Amino acid sequence: MSIQTVATKAFPGQRPGTSGLRKKVSIFQQPSYLENFVQSVFDTLGDCAGKTLVLGGDGRFHNREAVQTILHMAAAHGFAKVLVGQGGILSTPAVSCVIRKHGALGGIVLSASHNPGGPDGDFGIKYNIAAGGPAPESVTEAIFHRTESIKQYRISDAPAIDIDRLGVSHIEQMEVEVIDPVADYAELMQRLFDFDAIKALFGRGFRMCFDGMHAVSGPYATTILEGMLGAPAGTVINGVPLEDFGGHHPDPNPVNAAQLIAIMAADDAPDFGAASDGDGDRNMIVGRKFDVTPSDSLAVLAANATLAPGYRAGLKGIARSMPTSRAADRVADALGIPCYEAPTGWKFFGTLLDAGKATLCGEESYGTGSDHIREKDGLWAVLFWLNLLAVSGKSVEQLVGEHWARFGRNYYSRHDYEAVETKGANELMASLRVKLTALAGQDLGHYVVDFADDFSYTDPVDGSVATQQGIRIVMTNGSRIVYRLSGTGTEGATLRVYLERYEADPAYHHLPTQQALSALILIAEQVGGITGWTGRARPTVTT
Ligand code: G1P
Ligand code: ZN
Repeated sequence: MSIQTVATKAFPGQRPGTSGLRKKVSIFQQPSYLENFVQSVFDTLGDCAGKTLVLGGDGRFHNREAVQTILHMAAAHGFAKVLVGQGGILSTPAVSCVIRKHGALGGIVLSASHNPGGPDGDFGIKYNIAAGGPAPESVTEAIFHRTESIKQYRISDAPAIDIDRLGVSHIEQMEVEVIDPVADYAELMQRLFDFDAIKALFGRGFRMCFDGMHAVSGPYATTILEGMLGAPAGTVINGVPLEDFGGHHPDPNPVNAAQLIAIMAADDAPDFGAASDGDGDRNMIVGRKFDVTPSDSLAVLAANATLAPGYRAGLKGIARSMPTSRAADRVADALGIPCYEAPTGWKFFGTLLDAGKATLCGEESYGTGSDHIREKDGLWAVLFWLNLLAVSGKSVEQLVGEHWARFGRNYYSRHDYEAVETKGANELMASLRVKLTALAGQDLGHYVVDFADDFSYTDPVDGSVATQQGIRIVMTNGSRIVYRLSGTGTEGATLRVYLERYEADPAYHHLPTQQALSALILIAEQVGGITGWTGRARPTVTT
């Protein structure tokens, strides 16, 4: 067995997006495609002698092959050790947890998150740094530049190794340790939350439904909820990870987790519902006949954080992505702590968490997390909610209703126009950019524009600058429209339009969301010319 140097040619377009490199499986299956990217990551890292790498993915189609390739390339690059999840499985939050706990140099996550899987679906790869979080743009850009000039990669020709049996084996000089994907993560959760209170809650007959969406969080949820917390068997549905997620779109929102929403809408619905996505970093929280928006979820967790043992000392700050509603800002104000507004993508929270500026972070795209790791964390959010429900004795609807009464309600919705023509989508954004300065002060129906801009961000810790992160039209009363193009899609372009209206008066806290936002929806169409540019009269997905 020896290390082979293989000649290769650069592939165009290997630039990581919002969250790693995502492409159709068929693209990743091209000879050398994955190898080129992985070699570019390793070249960017430099000498890795004596270092440990963490490796795992969400179990989607092509995961196993990719794990073997990367293991054999890591051996050729001189890593001392790789920690790989059994069966090649590790949720994204678990990768972050394992990197931190074992002092690894970094980790590779194989996932296309919430994108569909299977032979015709998507695949993805992402590099995470020693702090446990996604590599910052300086690193992903360096990797991308390397992919443009790559001429060879190195790989061991040793036979495939058994990744299903726990324990240690070797490829060349490198040690491969197959680890239990759940153990380290479960131990961390136990330190953060009041497991005794949650156990007692289930002991009182509290009923919950967790939809694993046939994705990676199934084994984590089954071990923790049904195993450690005593929830009855059957609490976790669709709990077995499948390579194609059972043909479904593993995205926990009311559209794609329709089965859970139907269960929670029944008269005898469980007390609490939740779902997670392909790689386990997203979460959706549902009460009985009551959906919680991710932006509200972040705000409620922040307002009640000290009820959970891991957050008893209080929060240092909150961070949210720019398009996320400003509900959390009001909580931060009340707590007298800062609220940071960063661009979309978890990688922008890393420096704030590392510097101790923020404790909780959230995105409107069903992502919530904290400084316990450096990724958003689906099951963590679910356990946080269970902790609040157990300690407060209140229902989901009561907790949220009382929150609105205290802070006001930020009605919120995102309208996605998926797989539209890239040219039209770019032109829509360009035409909006031209209008920005003229928009300030304009009357738009009931609204007056306070300011309009193309969001740019200077990281308060390392000073790095990110420009063109989404167009905001902010009204004088705090309502907003945001337009952004997705950085995770693999087909054409996806236009996201984010709509937010603040309502202080509890008399108006119970309108249907789309109705509450109808005037803003109209303005978004008029100002953006969405139908004209995209050829779509209505969004594909509304969350
Ligand atoms: C989407 C979400 C974003 C999230 C990312 C990865 O990115 O909008 O909040 O961080 O997925 O889960 P987008 O497709 O909008 O670039
Ligand atoms: Zn995800």
